[in-house]
Amino acid sequence: MPTPYDAVASLYAELFSDMLDTRPLERAMLAAFAELTEGPVADLGCGPGHLTAHLHSLGLDVFGLDLSPAMIALAREAHPELRFEQGSMTALDLEDGALAGILAFYSLIHMAPEELPAVFAEFFRVLAPGGHLLLGFYAGDDPEPQKFDHKVTLAYRWSPSSLADLLGKAGFAEVGQLVREPVEGERFLQAQLLVRKP
Ligand SMILES: C[S@@+](CC[C@H](N)C(=O)[O-])C[C@H]1O[C@@H](n2cnc3c(N)ncnc32)[C@H](O)[C@@H]1O
Repeated sequence: MPTPYDAVASLYAELFSDMLDTRPLERAMLAAFAELTEGPVADLGCGPGHLTAHLHSLGLDVFGLDLSPAMIALAREAHPELRFEQGSMTALDLEDGALAGILAFYSLIHMAPEELPAVFAEFFRVLAPGGHLLLGFYAGDDPEPQKFDHKVTLAYRWSPSSLADLLGKAGFAEVGQLVREPVEGERFLQAQLLVRKP
């Protein structure tokens, strides 16, 4: 079944595959995540695979997974040396404790708030104790998640502390967070939240 990102996959890849070049704060958090992580890593909602490739360049044993077949095709074409799979992060075909790290960068933004507890429970299940989860998302100050008209499909922005609370309820411990001002072309604050499975 086509997903909302299939129709825009090529445009998305064109616009965002080089985004890290101009995002030093994102690179800094990804570097910290890589330094803290030893073992298999999944980039969930990997899109065209640019962040999967970046984590690989930092020495991680990483694969990408995305719901959109078009995104997976682009990721495989751009990074033939890496493994990419089509599937949903809501039901991972992984054993309990199989991963040392999960990256979910702007891939939870379209989930309705009531869907997130089950997704975080799934992330908790597949992470080994001591494993890290790094989230990237649109931020705001309001304690309630705010809907907005994202170009692809309805999305939500979250206050980092509200999201950290939800992750806490799933059993994660906060390690740190980074919030930065929007740069040209962005409308909202951008946040990254790093948590750990105790
Ligand atoms: C905004 S893009 C982010 C892509 C990439 N992580 C980045 O930061 O550029 C969101 C991606 O999440 C994927 N996605 C949405 N829901 C998903 C799900 N349930 N399982 C796996 N991927 C999903 C979409 O297909 C899309 O490629």
